[in-house]
Amino acid sequence: MQNTLNQSILPYTAKVNDQNHLEIGGCDTVELVKKYGTPLYVYDEEGIRTCCKQFKDAFSAYEDVSILYASKAFMTRAICKIIKDECLGLDVVSGGEIYTAINSGFPMQKCYFNGNNKTPEELELALYCNIGRITVDNFYELDLLDKVAKNSDKTVDILLRITPGLDCHTHEYIKTGQVDSKFGFDLSQIDEAVYKIKNEYTNLSLKGLHAHIGSQIFEKNVYTDLIGILAEQYHAIYEKYEIQLAEMNLGGGIGVKHTEDEDPLSIYEMANVIIAAFRENIDKYGLGKLKLAIEPGRSIICNSGVTLYTAGSYKQVPDGRKYIAVDGGMSDNPRPSMYQAKYTAIIANKANDKAEETVTIAGRYCESGDILIQDINLPEISSGDIICIPATGAYNYSMASQYNRVPRPAAIVVHKGRSDVIIKREVYQDLIAFDVIPERLAKSGCSCI
Ligand code: LLP
Repeated sequence: MQNTLNQSILPYTAKVNDQNHLEIGGCDTVELVKKYGTPLYVYDEEGIRTCCKQFKDAFSAYEDVSILYASKAFMTRAICKIIKDECLGLDVVSGGEIYTAINSGFPMQKCYFNGNNKTPEELELALYCNIGRITVDNFYELDLLDKVAKNSDKTVDILLRITPGLDCHTHEYIKTGQVDSKFGFDLSQIDEAVYKIKNEYTNLSLKGLHAHIGSQIFEKNVYTDLIGILAEQYHAIYEKYEIQLAEMNLGGGIGVKHTEDEDPLSIYEMANVIIAAFRENIDKYGLGKLKLAIEPGRSIICNSGVTLYTAGSYKQVPDGRKYIAVDGGMSDNPRPSMYQAKYTAIIANKANDKAEETVTIAGRYCESGDILIQDINLPEISSGDIICIPATGAYNYSMASQYNRVPRPAAIVVHKGRSDVIIKREVYQDLIAFDVIPERLAKSGCSCI
């Protein structure tokens, strides 16, 4: 079966050029560093587009599919433009993501709004821009949304987020399908929620159920199980309330490869399993026409992004490890310290050199835990070398901080030899842009000088 981009660590267009430099999107990464500095997030536009096409192709075997890019993985207005061009929808989870989508000219009917504690203002904004669906997470929100909808004199198409009671094998912090989860309605609460939507809430129209069982998933059976569990609920809802639900949303979660040890399934394999289970359950429960919706985030963007760093100081522990420090770390990539995520690296200016030493790549932040990669075999590194960490396109910039008051890096897209900034590098002024010195402190003097 055809390989897909979530299965390859390096971006689609990555290659080593005549100068032994890593090239992405037809751009020499060493030249990119000269132009934009480091740390630098580099996104391969052709890779992102190809990945979107692979998703569409893989799921085209089913007649009615919505593929919604989970923008929390990495969102900028330029990314929204690319996603829009590729005819995907968006999964958004905050007023800020909605605002970004609107501002990029995204068709808001193709946006689905998720989240376990949306504020009244966010819900108002969602209704104001006629968002496609709101996925309601709990009883409190059903009540709130109905009120907001009444005030806006609108009827809202909703999904109910369900916790299906499925435990997938991923990191504890990115599991969401188990019973003890902060997200969604328990299976035992669906009946009451549907009853209320039908009998009490005048401005909510139930279109289907939604579940997201976790992220970085490598098994296919969890999706088959999930579809079975949801389909049974669709059947029960029809039997009891005569409501024929029109769509089923399976969330995101498809795994990607960051290191040689990871072996994710291809998008085609995932799609085949999902579509087969979908059809089987539609037949089994007589569910009629049913739209299939998915919300992949990481699997669309992760492997089209790399981070470039400059190697700086180093330290050899006597009879111990050799540490190489780079000019970034946990504030541009918090995943190793948060989830023990593993990465690999290449020296972009010595791309094809043979590995000669085992080093640990440390970040620059004041935390012992700020280690990007522990014990990796690399060619001999010197200060000034460019270290590329691939598969950092998802949940890196989107979770980046200004920890230690280090400005956040720039992000660029590369395409056919062109490079364009999509997020400007922050400068020191940005760090104090929202700092306020209250007047009484501005006036106070120091008595010790
Ligand atoms: N849909 C919903 C409702 C979600 O909560 C998520 C991710 C997705 C879709 C997209 O999942 P994906 O396809 O990207 O796995 N910061 C963590 C990941 C958190 C995922 C949160 N929800 C990390 O860096 O691993």
